[in-house]
Amino acid sequence: MTEWWKKAVVYQIYPRSFMDSNGDGIGDIQGIISKLDYLAELGVDVLWLSPVYDSPNDDNGYDIRDYQKIMQEFGTMDDFDRMLEGVHERGMRLVMDLVVNHTSDEHNWFTERPDYYIWKNQPNNWRSFFSGSAWQFDEKRQQYYLHLFSKKQPDLNWENEELRSEVYQMMRWWLDKGVDGFRMDVINMISKDQNFPDGINGDGTPHFFNGPRVHEFLQEMNEKVLSDYDIVTVGEMPGAATEDAKLYTGPWRNELNMIFTFEHMNLDQGPSGKWELQPLHLPDLKENLEKWQVELFEKGWNSLYWNNHDQPRIVSRFGNDGKYRKQSAKMLATCLHFLQGTPYIYQGEELGMTNVAFMSIDDYQDIETLNMYKEKRAQGVADEELMKAIHAKGRDNARTPMHWDASENAGFTKGQPWISVNPNYTEINAQDRHEEDSVFSYYQKLITFRKDLPVITEGNFELLYREDEEIFAYTRKTADEQLTVYCNFSETPRELPVPKGRVLIGNYPPQEHRDAMQLRAYEAVCFYDNDSKMNE
Ligand code: NOJ
Repeated sequence: MTEWWKKAVVYQIYPRSFMDSNGDGIGDIQGIISKLDYLAELGVDVLWLSPVYDSPNDDNGYDIRDYQKIMQEFGTMDDFDRMLEGVHERGMRLVMDLVVNHTSDEHNWFTERPDYYIWKNQPNNWRSFFSGSAWQFDEKRQQYYLHLFSKKQPDLNWENEELRSEVYQMMRWWLDKGVDGFRMDVINMISKDQNFPDGINGDGTPHFFNGPRVHEFLQEMNEKVLSDYDIVTVGEMPGAATEDAKLYTGPWRNELNMIFTFEHMNLDQGPSGKWELQPLHLPDLKENLEKWQVELFEKGWNSLYWNNHDQPRIVSRFGNDGKYRKQSAKMLATCLHFLQGTPYIYQGEELGMTNVAFMSIDDYQDIETLNMYKEKRAQGVADEELMKAIHAKGRDNARTPMHWDASENAGFTKGQPWISVNPNYTEINAQDRHEEDSVFSYYQKLITFRKDLPVITEGNFELLYREDEEIFAYTRKTADEQLTVYCNFSETPRELPVPKGRVLIGNYPPQEHRDAMQLRAYEAVCFYDNDSKMNE
């Protein structure tokens, strides 16, 4: 099998918020089809679709009722086939979201095959990621079922061999249709410690993150399904460390191609979890990304991301979404796209879209946010404090509709959008993408470099200025190419020595360089040298 995905750039579509074609306020497949030229113009190779399957939408499609049916609001299977054709005609590939840690409680398995789920007479103390207990009492059965997410998302029992083979069959059905791979939702949680021990303070994660049989299950899936197709696979894996990542992605292991780590996304949270805000300490981010770059080098493969539908917008998080919005959006892109791995761009990131700050909790739609708000309000936490946390970390930051243009509702819908549009769409939208200094055209260039310069895929990684609290700098080297990347994560200008090579790309107009250069507010610059041996 070729490793085409090592040179690919992936674009994530959150279909509900991407483009609405029929005016019902909900993005749909025809909407995606109408934007395929836009995606081809950006230059991405792979589209990953968040779930488009039939679902009651308790968790926006991550609660699947029927794996082989398209969600009615999104269109039909015919629309899907047209979209797949359109993607392939443009030389791109399509990756589906595979959500098999749980289904919807409305999936017919839940009534017809209760043995596919996890039942107990006595619940343990595990808490759900969406607040409250992870167990729900079922009146009919007089037992509790496990749901690590909402109570409408019962966890599947992977110990059951028949369940596993049904999942594999379903995967083959999609692959035979021609889809090009899977992003696997929380796939490192499918194997639970069968003793179901209590967790410290209700934290069950040590008993199901990277659980006892997870590698066995993934190897089985690989043998029974994945190895027959030339596809890409990426596992979403909260709580996976580099040691785990090597086991999941080492080529000789026959499991997955790459995983999504959460470590770099957790650096700005306090000990009590995601809603406890803490400013980013840049050396922590550098140390973390360095660890993943160095440890997986020739031993596995990284996926590279700042954003997805669960994370706040990166320009508002690690950048400056006011005065330096464009500069910092490009700086963050530079920092990520010259690393080794497969980069993922989340819809709107290529425009420098920002977080949103709705005034009232009533404007929020996300179940995680709403459950947390309800629970904490009941415990007496002030509305103001909670809204602050939601503005910084809530998942709806990423889920407001895509900004296509400055017309009403950002050109996303002719109707009433299912979630309000970020009011800054009149300034930030795709209309200006052809301008030379647009964030979009900067992403286009970064994507092209990955195709042209082997060092981006193959080179080693070395961190520079390790302790520096404002500068993230590194080199990438092969025997005959070298990249040096400088990124200023602050407003403060800095003077740095000029590295070898010529400027490949930067987010400011080039300066005359001699021995030293000024790195301006949120400036990023990458130097390229293709004969490093000669210059030594
Ligand atoms: C991770 C997905 O990315 C998230 O959106 C979802 O809520 C949970 N898994 C449950 O499927």
